[in-house]
Amino acid sequence: MIKGSFPSSRPRRNRQNSWTRDMMRENSLVVNDLIWPLFIQEGSNTATDVSSMPGVKRITTDIAVEYAANAKELGIPAIALFPKTPEKLKSDDGYEGVNPENLICSTVRAIKEQVPDIGIICDVALDPYTTHGQDGLIRNGYVDNDLTLEALVNQAHIQVKAGCDIIAPSDMMDGRVGAIRSMLEEKKQHNIQIMSYAAKYASAFYGPFRDAVGSSSSLKGGKETYQMDPANTNEALREVAMDINEGADSIIIKPGMPYLDIIERVSREFNIPTFAYQVSGEYAMIHAAAANGWLDLEKAMMESLLSFKRAGATGVWTYFAPVVAKILNDT
Ligand code: PBG
Repeated sequence: MIKGSFPSSRPRRNRQNSWTRDMMRENSLVVNDLIWPLFIQEGSNTATDVSSMPGVKRITTDIAVEYAANAKELGIPAIALFPKTPEKLKSDDGYEGVNPENLICSTVRAIKEQVPDIGIICDVALDPYTTHGQDGLIRNGYVDNDLTLEALVNQAHIQVKAGCDIIAPSDMMDGRVGAIRSMLEEKKQHNIQIMSYAAKYASAFYGPFRDAVGSSSSLKGGKETYQMDPANTNEALREVAMDINEGADSIIIKPGMPYLDIIERVSREFNIPTFAYQVSGEYAMIHAAAANGWLDLEKAMMESLLSFKRAGATGVWTYFAPVVAKILNDT
């Protein structure tokens, strides 16, 4: 431990002007840290505001291709796609999620064709496709784990066939990483990455996301039987260890800011790339406070993102990605 006492030690010496603050800085945010989540909807040439997420739009495939090109230009390494499924295509068993012609697969194909050099991450979970809004299949009133695994494996398979680079299972079923990894091995898809939502909490901060993908109106009941209890830490370590054993290449902690302690512990204990997901509710909170004049938007945004790097995150999923990338590129 460093010891020092006043007046020979004066920590303010290192902070007295900007060059020394720049020189002494321990952590920084760079464009390579950013993963940009996008909401996709059916149709063409349409961008619809997501009212609870100022600045975020739900976009059609053709516009997603433009966003991907923009992300590439800004230096953002990867985008993540989430669909808003038309109500008529939703069902009890979420069948649209395993349809190779679904919105996500066709969007992946369009982006890969026109912007081949950007990483594409696809979400694996059934909630955008089910009439009940749960991430898995329901049997006897309970989200059935093993029954769901089969659907998730099929979902991952069609996404990979469409050209997805990284499979990101967000469903929190037990054993899904292993099941998806076996399928990938069997299909000789050794290079497909799995970025697993290893520690995903049953959080109140997903509200605006559920509005954006249209699952909040359908969602009956909570997700506490599979998403983690916000009170737990040790359980997160266990989840991460299991996902690594099952074949994950990197992991996600979600939400972000309320779970900085989890990011810190996981990144310290496991030698695996660890990503924070700054979720929709975190984004909405910062915007809402800024709109009221209570926070400086840019400063609060940068500080929130830097906190993930300080906690040990390799990178951050954030809806602020394009705005931040522009700021970082201009300075
Ligand atoms: C669904 C999923 C959710 C998010 C990502 N994938 C919502 C949920 O679990 O209900 C939330 C992302 C966000 O709030 O930004 N499997």
